[in-house]
Amino acid sequence: MSYEFYKTLHLFSLTLLFTSLGGLLLHAMNGGDKASNPSYKLAAAGHGSALVLLLVSGFGALAKLGLAFGANPWLHIKLVIWLLIGGLVVVPGRFPALAKPVWFALPLLGGLAAWLAVTKPFTVMAG
Ligand code: HEM
Repeated sequence: MSYEFYKTLHLFSLTLLFTSLGGLLLHAMNGGDKASNPSYKLAAAGHGSALVLLLVSGFGALAKLGLAFGANPWLHIKLVIWLLIGGLVVVPGRFPALAKPVWFALPLLGGLAAWLAVTKPFTVMAG
């Protein structure tokens, strides 16, 4: 597979991730719970699939770029953001009061992940 393939898959996956989690959060913000959300399984499956695809495509793009994971701390931060957004799926069901602040924080986290990939800060130069 090409770099372009992995990168496009990465972008596809992140749109699926934010659509799914955003939908779940909005339902909780409106006072809904799992039982009152007939689309809960669809959105939760979207969130889970997107996480897997995002990771696979991220490491695929990384390999095609010839970058080492250890020499690029921006990747470590992205991985933490990935974990965090993965864990946030419990918010709508268990902590609905946090749904609104998380809904505002989510695009900021996504924007930070994008900025890290675009600028690749803190990269350790070889030699
Ligand atoms: C919520 C999590 C993530 C978001 C929102 C995200 C977002 C993005 C975006 C917007 C780009 C395109 C940047 C550009 O065009 O230059 C990108 C590229 C990339 N991401 Fe992610 N990403 C996430 C997680 C990850 C993870 C976990 C990895 C782990 C390996 C990763 C590795 C990469 C790589 C290697 C690129 C390609 C950079 C390049 O083309 O120069 N990303 N990411």
